[in-house]
Amino acid sequence: MENKNNWTQNGRGRFIALEGIDGSGKSTQIKYLSERLKEQGILHYTTMEPTDSPIGSLIHQIMTGRIKTDNKVIAALFAADRLDHLLNDVNGILHKIEEGVTVITDRYYFSSYAYHSVDMPMEWVIQANEQSAHILKPTVTVFVDVDPDTALERIAQNRFQQELFEKKSRLVQVREKYMEAFDRLKDTENVVFVDGNQPPEKVAQEIWEKVQLGTGHF
Ligand code: TYD
Repeated sequence: MENKNNWTQNGRGRFIALEGIDGSGKSTQIKYLSERLKEQGILHYTTMEPTDSPIGSLIHQIMTGRIKTDNKVIAALFAADRLDHLLNDVNGILHKIEEGVTVITDRYYFSSYAYHSVDMPMEWVIQANEQSAHILKPTVTVFVDVDPDTALERIAQNRFQQELFEKKSRLVQVREKYMEAFDRLKDTENVVFVDGNQPPEKVAQEIWEKVQLGTGHF
């Protein structure tokens, strides 16, 4: 299939990662972005982490409490899931990019840097993901920035007060860790920030404009 608008770069597809705290509305925004790309006739593929591979399924079982393990093991599993996401022969991201397909992923290694560094050193998490960063850096990472209170309103229905409080402090921490990671890697990563507190259509428009700039298309 032919790619319109010259969205490939040396025959390779663009790689767009969406990041944000829980409740930031990333998945809705990925649908909008995918629609835009479709309208423009740009060949693309959307995917997410954790994946639905056997490693991803193990992660889901840990996250739902069916299997218990140490936080370091979870961080290492996410790193392994990511490598498989990149390299597997069936639907690996790398093959798609090399075939000229633009790939949009819901979360990539910045999720690991933010979420796992809440309880372990960020340096350790960055090192655990060194292979993925070496193999494929996003053309652009879009951070959908929402106020933790807004995020909480979106995710927290029918919960108890205490639980909400705990959740809020976690969202605040994760957001801070995202910012710390972006600052730390500002020389090697292309990150754009979008105000996710606006109505969804406005957020989508801002993402579309920044993605075009961030991928060198304007
Ligand atoms: P998911 O149910 O997909 O949540 P969301 O729709 O908000 O993205 O689960 C993703 C959860 O996994 C989310 O809470 C963040 C966490 N996570 C990590 O802790 N480390 C990682 O490397 C990734 C990719 C996700």
